[in-house]
Amino acid sequence: MRKPKIFNNPERFVEGWYWVMPSHNLQIGEVKAVTLLGRNLVVYRGQNKRVVICDAYCPHMGAHLAEGQVEGNEIRCFFHHWKFDDQGICTDIPCLAKPIPVKLKAWPTAEKYKMIWIWTGENPQQPIPFVPELEFQECESLLGSRIITNCHPNVVMINPIDTQHFYPVHQLQLDAVFEETELHQNAITFTNYDRGNKNPLFLKFQHLFKRNIIYQICYWYGSTFTLTVGTDFLHFHIMLALHLLEGGKCETQLIFLTKKRQGMIGWILNRLVLCLTSLFVHYFVKDDAKVLQTIRFDFKTPIKADQSIMQLINHVERQKPLMWGTWQLARSRDVESHENRNKWRDDLTND
Ligand code: FES
Ligand SMILES: [Fe+2]
Repeated sequence: MRKPKIFNNPERFVEGWYWVMPSHNLQIGEVKAVTLLGRNLVVYRGQNKRVVICDAYCPHMGAHLAEGQVEGNEIRCFFHHWKFDDQGICTDIPCLAKPIPVKLKAWPTAEKYKMIWIWTGENPQQPIPFVPELEFQECESLLGSRIITNCHPNVVMINPIDTQHFYPVHQLQLDAVFEETELHQNAITFTNYDRGNKNPLFLKFQHLFKRNIIYQICYWYGSTFTLTVGTDFLHFHIMLALHLLEGGKCETQLIFLTKKRQGMIGWILNRLVLCLTSLFVHYFVKDDAKVLQTIRFDFKTPIKADQSIMQLINHVERQKPLMWGTWQLARSRDVESHENRNKWRDDLTND
């Protein structure tokens, strides 16, 4: 296997949709500073309720726009009061009769599953991640906990198709055989059609389930995946929205999903299914945490049983890599300003 260029690279990520923050954390008229994938951004919500995400620093002199104010659907910089609209176009410079054509970088933004999302390229090429089975359904969602893991998002992602760990870590005797389908350049599914479950409890009720046990994983942008687990009666859907943190760590937002059932009974059922999904996920996450917090991923010896993992790595490698790179910049700036500060102190002392 050639050494991957994107997979498990602590300074690269795939162009795509990434979660930013829960929608309820941003009220109308509020502006917040966010660092995402090593880039400093501001997120605000205008009077029209729409969320706008743009680069954090004012194109005039670099003031941080989170110090500014939302005015209508625009943002005004605190420093010299220049104003920018939701496309980042400058609409007002108080000391000029007409603004000059200066632009702040604004990013494609959306809200789904009670979360704010950003597209990290120019124009969105593909949709916000979804569960394939729920593509055309109205969904109910519940936000779960947020987990920081001491390894790269790509390493967290391989967990549900890493069949060799099912028994040692989760005591699940499931001989999964995955069928891989690439939906498009940025999404791939792995579906298990094999019913090789040797769990005695499962075998007892096997006749009830016929051939309709489902276990399907769908990966998006090498960063977010959905999991569908269930039988004829009930399917649980979980989204694990991941993004890379500084130092190659991973932040995961759990999102539980279910198709929207109508009416009062439907509402109660939706809540019940979402709570059951949350219990189910926490049970497995707890087991995996031990490994994911201490692993130093180095896939030196792949074997046939690791085939799905290799297919996933190849899929990630074929996508468009980005490097926002401010991690490096921030580090070198820190060092630089620290050195400068020391130099001034030394100069002053000598004087
Ligand atoms: S730095 Fe923002 S208006 Fe001058
Ligand atoms: Fe696991």
